[in-house]
Parts: sequence; structure tokens; C-alpha cells
Amino acid sequence: MTTTPSSTALQREAKRPASPIPAPEPELTAGEDIASIGEAREAALGCRRCPLWRDATQTVFGEGPENADAIFVGEQPGDQEDLAGKPFVGPAGKMFDSILDDAEIDRRKVYVTNAVKHFKFEPRGKRRIHSKPNAGEIQACRWWLDKELDLIKPKLVVALGATAAQSLLGKAVPITRMRGDVIQREDGLRVFVTIHPSFILRIREREDKEAERERFLKDMLKVKQLMAA
Ligand code: URA
Repeated sequence: MTTTPSSTALQREAKRPASPIPAPEPELTAGEDIASIGEAREAALGCRRCPLWRDATQTVFGEGPENADAIFVGEQPGDQEDLAGKPFVGPAGKMFDSILDDAEIDRRKVYVTNAVKHFKFEPRGKRRIHSKPNAGEIQACRWWLDKELDLIKPKLVVALGATAAQSLLGKAVPITRMRGDVIQREDGLRVFVTIHPSFILRIREREDKEAERERFLKDMLKVKQLMAA
């Protein structure tokens, strides 16, 4: 039996880069020659540090100014981010943006990235269902997050959820217990721990959802103070 690709699948295909992802420049992947976020982004296009690149459309690198005071770290790109090549542009990104707006944090002035830079998913029919990155994938991609931290040297890093916290702190941490805490790493970097905005999206009950949104807004107001300090 022959099957016809769905229009969504065709749209996805059309958005994929026309040619295979270029092989990385060997001297760039070695690391010492990466002197800017632009160079890091370009080198990461050819990343083969873990197998996730095989099924993803493209590397989704961080975005924002190189002199940002704060870096926000999510988990990994979702379906829409994978297609757009930009972090936090899908439903979780819209929730994140609206709360940043309420906290009067200008997203254009902060750097937004992910612990893992390729979309990991399970195909289910026409849909691609988000799948959690494992410890090996988080560790492999930490190389890029460390590069971003090194180049930007932010005053504060915000870990949005467990994967980001694990990557930034080098171990699994209980988010509900540590939420709102600022942890100082051995290298002096301050890490603010909170939930991932997608957690709010998953709450069904309207009042509970609103309450959780308020809590996240309070976290962002604290982040704003810490960024200024
Ligand atoms: N969730 C994330 O953690 N990152 C994104 O970029 C989008 C959704």
C-alpha cells in the first residue's frame, strides 16, 4: 500500500535545510577558537556529540545579546522550536513571554537557551511527542552550555526546570524543594532554580493554573532584582 505524506509532514519537510547539516570545522569543535556566540552557534550546527542530531531538523542554539545580565536555560527545543531554529517560540515560550512581560523583563535583553540543543521526540502518527533527554545527552550538550556561559559571563543563570538544573549544577536536584533558591556554584556563578513554564500549561484546573502562574511571576520578579544586584 502506498501512503501519501500529510500536509503537515510536507510542510515540515519543506522547512528542513535543503542540504545535509554541514560537517563541523574541526578547529571550531575543538573549542579554543570559538570567540563569540555567533561562532559557537555556527559550530553547533554540525554538532554530533550525541545521536539526537539525527532525527532533529536542526540545532536550536541560544538567542540573545552577548552582554546579557541573565541567561535563562530551558530543557530542550520542542516541535515548533525545532522547525523555527529558535528557542522558546512554541506554547511554553508564549507562556514564558507573557510572564516575562508582566515582570517587566525585556526578553530581547536576556539570553535564552536550552540544556539540550536538539529536539528529542517519539513519532506518534503525524505527531512528534516530546521525550525527556537522558543524563548522557544532557552531559554531552553541557559543552555548549558551558561555552555560552563562558562567552556571556552573566550575573545570574535561571534554571527553568529539572533538566536545566541538572545540567547547571552537575546533579539531579529536587525542583519543588529548591524552587526560589539561589545556588552559588564553585566557579562563583549564581543559579536561580524554578519550574519550567510548560508545567503551568499542563495544569488543567483554571484556578490552580492561575495560582501557579502567579508563583512563577513572583519567581521572575525575584530574578529581576537579582539581575540588577
Ligand atoms: N521547552 C524548552 O525547554 N525549551 C524550548 O525552547 C521550548 C520548550
